[in-house]
Amino acid sequence: MNKNPIGIFDSGVGGLTVWKHVHQLLPNEKLIYLADSMHCPYGTKPAEEIIELSRANTRFLLNKGCKLIIVACNTATASAIDTLRSEFNIPFVGMEPAVKPAAVNTTTGKIGVLATKGTFEGRLFKETSQKYAKGVDTLIQVGEGLVELVENNEFESEKAHHLLSHYINPMIGAGVDQIVLGCTHYPFFIPLLKQIVPDSIQIIDPAPAIAVRVENILMELGLQSNSAEVNLEFYSTGDTKVIDSLVTKITGQSYPAKNIETS
Ligand code: DGL
Repeated sequence: MNKNPIGIFDSGVGGLTVWKHVHQLLPNEKLIYLADSMHCPYGTKPAEEIIELSRANTRFLLNKGCKLIIVACNTATASAIDTLRSEFNIPFVGMEPAVKPAAVNTTTGKIGVLATKGTFEGRLFKETSQKYAKGVDTLIQVGEGLVELVENNEFESEKAHHLLSHYINPMIGAGVDQIVLGCTHYPFFIPLLKQIVPDSIQIIDPAPAIAVRVENILMELGLQSNSAEVNLEFYSTGDTKVIDSLVTKITGQSYPAKNIETS
């Protein structure tokens, strides 16, 4: 039993899509969310820089006493999780594009993956694709500009509809029946995606599986909390307006984020 918090970080507000599932599954856990919105997006940055930013995020969460850290960012997982695991003595849970369930579920033999440049360039994506999607036609698409739309709270805008259609229509045309959201910002687009994508195509968000993974690790290590008080904290290295409005939208309550600097 351990009442210390779970830390969750992302390059910005995208990791809230993971936070939501973790909180739903593990309501007794204290959660500390850190949005590194000042340095967002990570997806176009070199790996070395993402590693440095991920170290700073980890140090911040460790100083808050976190018992486990969720790297709720596919891009940071791709570039930094090996380094974080070797440098910090704490369990980390990272994101992985859900290529495996997509490859298992496809009946057309064609799947689409939407993610950042950094994620596609990482070892994890290549290895996962080779391991689980051999023989499956995998169409990859960098979602340039999508993260910024979420950071600006414009994920339901006409502009978002236009950009998503531009990225997704070729996948639909090619006959994919699974579309993997390989960036934690993208589930915010699910309502719009449902307007663009026919019902026969499944949209896969790996976040629920990540929450289950966190639960299993806590149980294995005896780190679960049985605390009855809900304790949720939010921090941002950038402007807190958007994170505040998204948290209110997700939880129905107000948990104003604190603006901080990581180093
Ligand atoms: N949420 C991050 C991810 O999952 C976005 C990366 C970025 O900041 O470009 O990849």
